[in-house]
Amino acid sequence: MNVPTPPTQSDSESDQANNRGSTLATYGSRLAIESKDSILSPIASSRSRPRSIGAATESADVIVTISDYRIALLPGDGIGPEVTESACALLNAISALDPSLTFQTEELPWNAEFYLASGAMMPADGMTILAQFDAIFLGAIGDMRVPDHIALRQLIFAIRQGFNQYVNLRPIKLLHGVETPLRDRGPEDLDMVIVRENSEGEYSGIGGTLFGGSVDEVALQTSVFSRRGVERILRYGFELARAKGRPLSSVSKGNAQNFSGVLWDGIFNEISAEYPDVTSNNLLVDAAALHLVQHPEKFGVIVASNLFGDILSDLGAALVGGLGFAASANLNPERTFPSMFEPVHGSAPDIAGKDVANPVASLWATGMMVGHLGRPDWERAVISAIEDVLAEGRIRTPDLGGHATTKEMTSAILGTLRSPEA
Ligand code: NAI
Ligand code: MG
Repeated sequence: MNVPTPPTQSDSESDQANNRGSTLATYGSRLAIESKDSILSPIASSRSRPRSIGAATESADVIVTISDYRIALLPGDGIGPEVTESACALLNAISALDPSLTFQTEELPWNAEFYLASGAMMPADGMTILAQFDAIFLGAIGDMRVPDHIALRQLIFAIRQGFNQYVNLRPIKLLHGVETPLRDRGPEDLDMVIVRENSEGEYSGIGGTLFGGSVDEVALQTSVFSRRGVERILRYGFELARAKGRPLSSVSKGNAQNFSGVLWDGIFNEISAEYPDVTSNNLLVDAAALHLVQHPEKFGVIVASNLFGDILSDLGAALVGGLGFAASANLNPERTFPSMFEPVHGSAPDIAGKDVANPVASLWATGMMVGHLGRPDWERAVISAIEDVLAEGRIRTPDLGGHATTKEMTSAILGTLRSPEA
């Protein structure tokens, strides 16, 4: 596989011949386990198959095909390792309940300590190492001893851009048992997903400084909006809205950003015409922030640029219980490269090492990973288990007003997890 070095963008389409995974093995009479579309990746799903390592059991009529996935774990800093432990426990629990799914995890210690020892957030061949995995799970990055812009750019942004993970999906869903700060609103009002452009826009990383440290200091941070980049993210959003039967809101700032915003809005007009069955509108980002608070029920799929999507997803997280509930998937929809799954929160140094971090965002992101790998039924089962424990209300971490530890809350959720067929 052709592995680009960050921050070079790869041309995923030209690499499609190298599509990940191999065909399911079929044995005897046919009942192979099919890879079903993930509810969150409508474009991606039909294109890949889990790697099969062969038939585990074979009887006259039933064949179980084991799908074995290699998962790279990047626990990172602060509470990252604690919530990654929860993610691993979930993968083990799923395998225990479903012998057709196995996960081989490998921990890669690329964090602040690694940077302080080596001068970089990942080794020179880091992207080649990661490319061999089916998916990546990231805990969180951030440590006072390493400047944030270096740590995040050298690891998270390098992976998102290098693996062309141009879709950042962030579900904003109020679970039963969680309080929203919005008065008289419930789970039926808050159920949406943010589709954030994840590879260019305001976070392209292009720019420079002049006269550093002097009174004449100048910084340029260039936003990059390509027709190709805007088209594919909007198209992804429309496909998702169509699959979910929900409205789509395109968020931009075309009145002030007279180049990039106008390009975005023009492409939105073109693509929306291709989806007459999807109700869609175009919102200015400031108005979108207002409407999210006043009329959250009107939102289904929100498509936004890198910066706007980032900001709106924190607002969205606040509406559904806080960062402890914000999960995120960085998807390479063509599956040329592995996708990366992570909680939205950072390393939370104020609570690190205390076993009090809310594990929900991490468990939810893990569920999304399993969904992306071809088992959306398990993704739904994970969300149900989380919701059951929250609705019961007995075991909660301190951010939810409880006294439970990360481990206790993880155990409670895993203990509630049921096989989707059960
Ligand atoms: P943060 O998300 O780490 O923490 C913000 C607040 O939310 C803190 O009070 C923290 O205790 C709380 N919090 C976060 N996750 C929680 C959880 N699972 N359960 C309970 N409470 C939780 O953001 P902050 O403090 O601005 O940044 C800390 C470090 O993380 C910085 O170095 C920052 O650059 C980095 N960061 C990394 C991200 C990533 O790895 N994707 C994302 C955001 C920040
Ligand atoms: Mg953010």
